[in-house]
Amino acid sequence: MIFRRLIAGLLMTLVAIASLAQDSKADYRVVPLPERIDGIKSADFRLTEQCVVNYPMGNRDMERNAAMLSQYVEELTGIHLSTRPCKDPKSSVSPADRNGNISLLIDPKEGNDEGYSIQVTPKGVEISGKSPAGVFYGIQTLRKSLPVGNTQAIQLPAAQIVSSPRFSYRGMHLDCVRHFFSVETVKRYIDIMALHGMNRLHWHLTDDQGWRVEIKKYPRLTEVGGWRNGTTLGHNSPVNDGIRYGGYYTQEEIRDIVRYAAERYITIIPEIDMPGHMVAALTAYPELGCTGGPYEVWTLWGVTDDILCVGKDHTLQFVKDVLDEVMQLFPCEYIHIGGDESPRVRWQECPLCQQRIRDIGISAEGKQSAEARLQGWFTTQIQEYLAQHGKRIIGWDELLDCNVDITATIMSWRGAEPGARGANLGHDVIMTPVDPLYFDYYQTSKTWNEPTAFGGCNTLKKVYDFEPVASDLPADKRRHILGVQANVWTEYITCEPQVQYQVLPRMAALAEVQWLQPELKDYQNFKSRLPHLVDIYKRYNWTYRAKSLVLEDEDQPKK
Ligand code: ACM
Ligand code: ZN
Repeated sequence: MIFRRLIAGLLMTLVAIASLAQDSKADYRVVPLPERIDGIKSADFRLTEQCVVNYPMGNRDMERNAAMLSQYVEELTGIHLSTRPCKDPKSSVSPADRNGNISLLIDPKEGNDEGYSIQVTPKGVEISGKSPAGVFYGIQTLRKSLPVGNTQAIQLPAAQIVSSPRFSYRGMHLDCVRHFFSVETVKRYIDIMALHGMNRLHWHLTDDQGWRVEIKKYPRLTEVGGWRNGTTLGHNSPVNDGIRYGGYYTQEEIRDIVRYAAERYITIIPEIDMPGHMVAALTAYPELGCTGGPYEVWTLWGVTDDILCVGKDHTLQFVKDVLDEVMQLFPCEYIHIGGDESPRVRWQECPLCQQRIRDIGISAEGKQSAEARLQGWFTTQIQEYLAQHGKRIIGWDELLDCNVDITATIMSWRGAEPGARGANLGHDVIMTPVDPLYFDYYQTSKTWNEPTAFGGCNTLKKVYDFEPVASDLPADKRRHILGVQANVWTEYITCEPQVQYQVLPRMAALAEVQWLQPELKDYQNFKSRLPHLVDIYKRYNWTYRAKSLVLEDEDQPKK
């Protein structure tokens, strides 16, 4: 009898030891890599269902942060953590409450608005930031450090982790015109951005091939402009699939998406592209064009000569009316007004546009034609109107060629040179050069097994190696480089898995460009940290390009 008890006891001890050994360990070397990870000589913290996530009572943002941390931990590990509002005299979380738990804290002493620190000791975990956004980025780091897979307990090594982003603008773009994506898909895109520490979604909502934002004053924009009679097959072939295609977001859906993004500290910047890329609007309201039409929502890709007629006062009023509703929907500081790829042949032939040129007294100057300066005048009208409402404009780098005001923020897409030129002139700049930051481009030179892409070859390594600040940019101009963004045009991207395939894992490389100081970047080290991030992609069933995880020819140093 005693012998049997002894055996049973021994077995139980062995099981306990085995389960302890099975406790999986967190690894803080995530993507983007925190600026500093200092190990502390001390025992680990043991994360189990007994732990609570504390947050300061009465702080709604921190309450949501706590709920999200709990959700993330459960999604990745199966461990359920409850959340708890706490109050102490400094309206923080008292030491007694912190003991054995995870505490989210606002600390005004933290340096950067979006920076965070994580302190792990055997007694507890503290995630602090100057702002709730900073705490959220700390939460993302803790989330990404967790081993993926259901477990009972996780060992968090004792450490002090500190980080803050290099750039304040850390963007992704999504074109929902060339192909239309559901509210759920856009929300998942936002989830993916949050995991990568990004904070700006540039949402391309109008173009030649469709108008995707409900405007109550002009219902035909979506009723007529939201639909096209088929889509070209292949790379702009004359063959059309003949399938009516379209859709749009109601204002209610847009408000829902804007709120969803804001809860993840992501600001949505809408793009209403003008005066070019407007054929969907012209089809709905042909009087807005120079010729009066008829127009047809475009079934091809590319650049068309039909643009807004800015000789008509009615056109300016239309644009202001549209922007009135757009400003109501998007509470951000910026509205993106496009300005790219705007041929001026219609303006050259239009008596009203020519009359406008005479009325405002402009003429060709240097390399700028009178019509180029007319685009500058039109842009300034819109810029001043938005400024009256406390908003600023972002436009594509073509704006540098038409004499716009210095307060316009420039998005450098035709390479990095326009960005440097804009910053030298004193414009704020966001770097999104086609090479390497167009994620609708191929990810390899071996394209035969790849889904059809626009062209080009923007490998993971090229994205990683991109340096947004030109080495010869004078020190006093460097602050004009607000940040970095990758663009996803969807001519050839028809569904959500394909969107995800194009951006993952390139977003991981971009996140390090956006967060890390140049001296901390190391591609091989990044690639050693990538598989764990990909385990998280897998857990969420996101599609990604697996081949980018192995060493590709493109990664090899040139002989
Ligand atoms: C652009 O790619 N046309 C900005
Ligand atoms: Zn005209």
